[in-house]
Amino acid sequence: MRPKVFITRRLPEEGLKILDDAGIEYNIFPHSETPPTRQDIINGVKGCDGLISLLSDTIGKEVLRSSERLRVVSQYAVGYNNIDIREAKRLGITVTNTPGVLTETTADLTFGLMLASARRIVESDKYTRAGRFKGWAPLLHLGEDVHGKTLGIVGAGRIGSAVARRAVGFGMAILYYNRSRNIEFEKGTGARYVSFDELLERSDFVTIHTPLTPETEGMFGAKEFQKMKKTAIFINTARGKCMDEKALIEALRSGEIRAAGLDVYENEPEIIRGLAELDNVVMVAHIGSASRETRIKMAVIAVRNLVAFFEGREPEFRVC
Ligand code: DGY
Repeated sequence: MRPKVFITRRLPEEGLKILDDAGIEYNIFPHSETPPTRQDIINGVKGCDGLISLLSDTIGKEVLRSSERLRVVSQYAVGYNNIDIREAKRLGITVTNTPGVLTETTADLTFGLMLASARRIVESDKYTRAGRFKGWAPLLHLGEDVHGKTLGIVGAGRIGSAVARRAVGFGMAILYYNRSRNIEFEKGTGARYVSFDELLERSDFVTIHTPLTPETEGMFGAKEFQKMKKTAIFINTARGKCMDEKALIEALRSGEIRAAGLDVYENEPEIIRGLAELDNVVMVAHIGSASRETRIKMAVIAVRNLVAFFEGREPEFRVC
């Protein structure tokens, strides 16, 4: 019998073609604008052997138990904090993800947010579009330099390393904090391993690149923002729940830190009241991996993981 798969959103065609070629039957959640509800996912998974999920889908106990045939969940993302891994393990369901391919793309966006928030690019864009630009002025939209500054990287994994490599080109001094020292990370970037507190106190830019775990949840709160320089810029392209948004708004409002660049939100897609009103925050819609090239690569990997599983081969990227 041909395996049957539910896909929670339409993926790039390059991925679907691999499914077609492998003779795997699939249904795709039909709406591209609105995300499926939990019930939509449960209904979709019924009678399926596999599921391709997004980071915005909650894959909890009920979903994992909604088909007795469900054997594999292929996550179209590197992060998988939306999946109940313990339950998947208990049920013997394989979970895979797509690491590696989105590293450089996410690092590009991180730098984009650093530049945009330091140099007030979005604010100046709005001002210019509104017809308010009346002439060059010495004090108009003054921001902060990025080159030559100190960058604090929290999380020395793939994406943190890719950000560090970019920072070298900008002549930045790099501090990093990680669960353990990473000699590879230090090589070629000159990054210095410091305590979390020292990183907060000495960095001009603080950027987070950790997965969401019980240890990193709420890692940036009022205390941490207070420890940062008044001119510091906070960047989050990792997970929204790693920061306390209320504390961030307060820090941005009171001038405890200068600015922030955010790709992720605590309860996305909901945006906490008050954030959008601030001029010193640049906000984008979780587009860290959103380049055409990378989203295609992610689709190909997600589908290859799934096909390998059904063909009895080891998936390239197994979580459990
Ligand atoms: C991931 O894959 O976890 C990223 O957040 C996608 O942008």
